[in-house]
Amino acid sequence: MASYLPFLSIVVIFGVGVVVVSGAVSCPPSDRDALLAFRSALSEPYLGIFSSWTGRDCCSRWYGVSCDPTTGRVADLTLRGESEDPILARAGRTSGLMSGRISEAVCRLERLTTLVVADWKQIGGAIPPCIPSSLPLLRILDLPGNRLSGPIPADLGRLSRLTVLNLADNLVSGPIPRSLPSLSSLMHLDLSGNKISGPIPTNLGDLKMLSRALLARNQISGPIPASIGRLSRLADLDLAGNRISGSIPADLGSMPVLSSLYLDGNRISGNIPAAILESKGLGILNLSSNAIAGEIPDVFDASSYFMVLDLANNRLTGHVPRTLASAAYVGHLDLSHNRLCGPIPTGAPFDHLEAASFADNDCLCGFPLGKCA
Ligand SMILES: *[C@@H]1O[C@H](CO)[C@@H](O)[C@H](O)[C@H]1NC(C)=O
Repeated sequence: MASYLPFLSIVVIFGVGVVVVSGAVSCPPSDRDALLAFRSALSEPYLGIFSSWTGRDCCSRWYGVSCDPTTGRVADLTLRGESEDPILARAGRTSGLMSGRISEAVCRLERLTTLVVADWKQIGGAIPPCIPSSLPLLRILDLPGNRLSGPIPADLGRLSRLTVLNLADNLVSGPIPRSLPSLSSLMHLDLSGNKISGPIPTNLGDLKMLSRALLARNQISGPIPASIGRLSRLADLDLAGNRISGSIPADLGSMPVLSSLYLDGNRISGNIPAAILESKGLGILNLSSNAIAGEIPDVFDASSYFMVLDLANNRLTGHVPRTLASAAYVGHLDLSHNRLCGPIPTGAPFDHLEAASFADNDCLCGFPLGKCA
C-alpha cells in the first residue's frame, strides 16, 4: 500500500455507517471549536454571514474561513463589513454591522496567518492580549473600523512575520508598545483615529520594511524620532492631528521614496528644514496648524513638484520664496495665516492661485492680492 504524505485516508466508523475522507485532514475539531467560540461572542443581525458555519469541515464553505491545504489547519479568517463581497449585495446593503467582541478563542487557531475583522462598527472589547504569544505565524492583523478599546498588547513585537498591522478607527488607548519596532517584517502600520497617547518609540526607524506609517488623529506626544529618516522604503508618513512637539528632523528630507508627509495639526516648532523642501519625490507636504517659525527656505527648482504644499497657520516670516516660481508644478499652495511679507512672485505656479492661499499675513502684496505699493 502506497502512502503519500501528507495525504491520508481516514475511515471513520459511526453507528450508522462508514464515511471515507480522502485527502488532507481538514479542520481538526480543536479549530472548529475555536471558531464556534469566536462566533458565539459576536452578533451579526443583517447578513447571516455565520449561517454557513455548520457541519464538521470548517475548511469548506464556512464564510470567511480558509485552511492551509497541506496541514488542513485554519490559516485565514477574514470578515469584512465593507467590501465588494456578494454577501453584502445580496442583502441589499453596502456595509455590515456586527456587535460583540473578538473572543480570546481566536488564539486557539494557532496556525492562523491572517486575521481580518474589519469595518463592523460595533465590535467592542479588547484586542485579545493572547494574540502575540499564541499566533506566531500571523502576517496580517487587520481590525479597523470597529469599537475596539484598551491597549495594544505590549508584547506585540513578538509577531516577527507580521506585515500588516491595521487598527485604524477604533477606540484603542495607551501607548505605542515599545516592542513595536521589533516587528521586522512590518510593511503597513495604520493606527489612525484612536486614542493612542505617549511618544513614538525612538527606534521606529528599525522597521526596515515599513512603507506606510499612519498614526494620525491620536493623542501622540513628544518629538518625531530622527530614526524615521532611516526608513528607506517609507512612502507615506501621516502624524497629523496629534500633540507632537519639537522640530522637524532634517533627516526626513533624505528619505529615498517618501512621497507624502502629513504633520499638520500638531505642536511642532522650529524651522522648516531646507532638505524637506528639496526632497525629490515628496509631492504632498502638509505642515499646517503648528508653531513653525522662521523663513521658508528658498530652495525650489525645476524638479520641485508639489500636489500639495500647505504651510498655513504657522509663524512663518520673511518672503514667499522667489524660487517657488521655478517649480515644475505647485497644485495646492496654502501660505495663509502666517507672518509673511513682500511681493508674491510671478510665474506659472502662481497663476492659478487664489487670494485665500495668501490671506492673513503681515504685508504680502501682488497678484492674487492687491498691487504692491
Ligand atoms: C492640511 O491640514 C489641514 C489641517 O489638518 C487641513 O485642514 C487641510 O485641508 C490640509 N490641506 C490639504 C491641502 O489637504
